[in-house]
Amino acid sequence: MKPIVYCNGEFVEEQNAKVSIFDRGYLFGDGVYEVVPVVNGQLIDKIEFLARLQRSLSELELEWPCSQIEYVAMLETLIERNELVEGSVYTQVTRGVAPRDFSFPDNTPTTCMAFTTAKSYLSSPQAEAGVEVITVEDLRWKRRDIKSIALLAQCLAKQQSKRHGCYESWMLEDGFITEGSSSTAYIVKNNTVITRPNSNDVLPGIRRHVLLELAADNGIAVELRAFTLDEVLTADEAFLSSATTLVMPVVTIDGKPIGEKKPGLITLKLRQLYVDRIKKQAGL
Ligand code: PDD
Repeated sequence: MKPIVYCNGEFVEEQNAKVSIFDRGYLFGDGVYEVVPVVNGQLIDKIEFLARLQRSLSELELEWPCSQIEYVAMLETLIERNELVEGSVYTQVTRGVAPRDFSFPDNTPTTCMAFTTAKSYLSSPQAEAGVEVITVEDLRWKRRDIKSIALLAQCLAKQQSKRHGCYESWMLEDGFITEGSSSTAYIVKNNTVITRPNSNDVLPGIRRHVLLELAADNGIAVELRAFTLDEVLTADEAFLSSATTLVMPVVTIDGKPIGEKKPGLITLKLRQLYVDRIKKQAGL
């Protein structure tokens, strides 16, 4: 079966999806995106995804391409058309096609597209073994809370981790970890999960939001504050979270072991709690 993508109102084979070179997403990175997990053919954490897309759009004064109900229906049709059981949906909205001018064009319809990626989600050998990360300088702009498609600093960061044979880069600013290049960063010390509070410095991760809720409901202590590389090195556990990794144990940083250099108990507990929540949502 050939993959079907959505592009500006149409479901087409991917080679037939066309966007102008004058699209502001292409020219300026002027757009926002979302990645939504799919399990058993169901969109996971749909309400949280819609809320964050709403926020990103409004921060950039972008309009929804259609109603939220139509948007969800479009994604559900795309999942069906691709017979996607487990994986994710990527979707983005840009400010549309207009002559190249930095200021916003008037009355230009947004460009909207979406595609699916199949991937095994719930069982992950990497989550059983844990992954390795390196630190890099955080080179990003000052509105990291917006899920902007302009991701060059994150691409540079990810490329560095790849070069080191590592899974992810944790970005450092003023001596503190901000987050991963495409994930939220956490440590665990004395049974307390430590992660940054939301601010313009980090993306308000949906997994972060859900995990903090699950922690509160299950008596796991949480401290919202920034932490340093030294604290990672003396932590009992570390992990990251994102739409594509759920909860992923981190066992080394810059080649040095964290805790016992194996997935920690609180990390595994949070992963299991999230997997259980996903299964419930997906009707499994
Ligand atoms: N990235 N921080 C950054 C910088 C991210 O890019 C992401 C997600 C997260 C985690 O957010 P969430 O739990 O809502 O996925 C944190 C996605 C997966 C990506 O760009 O592919």
